[in-house]
Order: sequence, then C-alpha cells, then structure tokens
Amino acid sequence: MAKVTIDGHTVEVPDGTTILNAARLVGGETVPPAMCYYSSLKGSGGKCRTCLVEVSKGSEKDPRPMPKLVASCSTPVMDGMEVKNKTSPRVLDARKGVVEFLLINHPLDCPICDQAGECHLQDLAFEHGKSATRYEFKRREFEKIDIGPYIQLHMTRCILCYRCVYTADQLTNGRVHGVMKRGDAAEISTFIEKAIDNDFSGNVIDVCPVGALTDRTFRFKSRVWYTKPMDAHRDCDKCCGKAVLWMVGNEVYRVTARKDQFGEVKEFICNTCRFDKKEASDWTIEGPRMIDRHSVISANKYFEPEPEHTPLLNKA
Ligand code: SF4
Ligand code: FES
Repeated sequence: MAKVTIDGHTVEVPDGTTILNAARLVGGETVPPAMCYYSSLKGSGGKCRTCLVEVSKGSEKDPRPMPKLVASCSTPVMDGMEVKNKTSPRVLDARKGVVEFLLINHPLDCPICDQAGECHLQDLAFEHGKSATRYEFKRREFEKIDIGPYIQLHMTRCILCYRCVYTADQLTNGRVHGVMKRGDAAEISTFIEKAIDNDFSGNVIDVCPVGALTDRTFRFKSRVWYTKPMDAHRDCDKCCGKAVLWMVGNEVYRVTARKDQFGEVKEFICNTCRFDKKEASDWTIEGPRMIDRHSVISANKYFEPEPEHTPLLNKA
C-alpha cells in the first residue's frame, strides 16, 4: 500500500494505483479532469494532458519534486508522494493552455450540438477556458459522415482521445474504424467507407467526451436538459439490460448506458436496448436517475414540456 497526499487530503491506495484514481477516492475538487482516460478501457489515457498535476514530493525515499507536470492518469503513486491539483497555479495555468489547444480546431457550435449540456469539453472550457482565441490559421474542416444507420461522425469536434477506438477494440468482434493519418492530419474514420455495424457499436457514442459521435436516432430531437433521465432495466440476452431512458412525458427520446460521477460507463449496453427499445413499455422503470457529474444536466432543474412543445432545433 502507498500513502499519497493530494491537495492536502491523504489516502492509502494499493501500489500501482495512478494519481488520478487515488484522487477519485478523495473525490470533489481534488479530482483532475480527464478527457481521454476511461477506467473500463484498457490502454486509455495519456493523450489529452488535461489531467496534468504537480508532484511536489516524489516519495518518502526520494522527496525531490518532479521537475515537470505529469499526466495523473498514467503516473502511479509512490509511498509518501505529495501532489497538487487545484492548489497548484502551475497546473491551473497549464490546463488553460491545454484547453486552448483542444479548442483550436473545435467549432464553437454548442448551440446546435447534441452533446451540449453533457459535453466534457464544454464543462472544461467553462472552468478553465479563455473567452478569446489567439489562433489565426485555417481550422480543419470535414464533412459530416454517417457511419452506419445509428451514428454520425462530426470530425471537426473530435479531440482524438482514442476512447471510441479502444471501445470498438475491446467490446466488439471486429473494429472497422480507427485513427487514420498522423499529426494535424489525423482523423477518425472507418476503413474504406465501411459502416460501423455490430451489436455493441453504439457504445462509442457514450464514451465520446465531445459531440463528435452522436446518436442519429436522437439528433435534434431535444436538448438534453429538457429530457428527464430515468433508470430502467429489461431482460436482455446480449447485455446487462441496465440503461437510462431520457424521457419527455411518457416518450423515450433516447436510451444510453449508465454513467458514474466521472462520466464513465461501467456496464456497456447492446444496440438492441439502445436503438430498438424506444417504448416505455419495453422497460421496467426504476425511478429518476441521479446525475452526479457537475454539469448542466445535474442542475436538477428539469422542465417537463409536453412532447409537442419540446423545442426542436433547426437542422443547421
Ligand atoms: S470521435 Fe470522440 S471518442 Fe473518438 S477519438 Fe474523437 S473525441 Fe474521442
Ligand atoms: S486523461 Fe490523462 S492524458 Fe488524458
């Protein structure tokens, strides 16, 4: 076991635990943001740098501080380590820089993006971003692509976190999409225009931290904060059958897997539950879902309009 102190809170964790996971045990403001790490996906993390922290004391044996900020999602704790997250001006400054980089090519289209209200980049920019950009060059441009009947890819919004690639690799039998090309030409794409089509493909929508992969069956139906999340389950022979129904009145607008307070899915669901079971009678409804994550949808100010009064968005 190793004792680690993060922002003044000491926790004891098994050897090999990362700083990020130790901070998650402390909870609250001590937890660094994470845009690419996903605890249930092996190999994830180390791509986005939003989780940078300062190690002000390396360990009990070697108390020297680490000279550079480190990615907390991929740095294991040492016994006696002291870490600063929110309490380090260096970290806060670096995080501002990371957000600025992530937003260089990301369009500011939150008003028409289906992910708005539950987008991790939107929350990150709200907390750490600047109101202006210094970037003067041409931004990357892509056409929207329908990859299969259920998923649409907006490559302009992608932050290349690789979560969807790991999801497809680890959850499905054959991955047909990935990151093509390198550097600023890198893009998520299917292999020679193939459709993403297998029983668990819909999970790439849930793991995408931004609005790059969206649910075509929900697009422009409602803003997420107008819908009411309800825990529900059904007997399913392919997956756990435990989901969240996003409802307006008695209508099911979309079905997603359940996410924890870090915005992560622990039990993935199949496409039948996600896309084919859109009637309330298909499910046993357990009750309203508590959204732990600090975001617009957790403000708990649901407004329940009649379906015909739900604001529809222009298909811009
Ligand atoms: S499409 Fe989404 S999940 Fe996939 S790499 Fe881009 S941002 Fe990450
Ligand atoms: S969450 Fe650690 S580098 Fe992305």
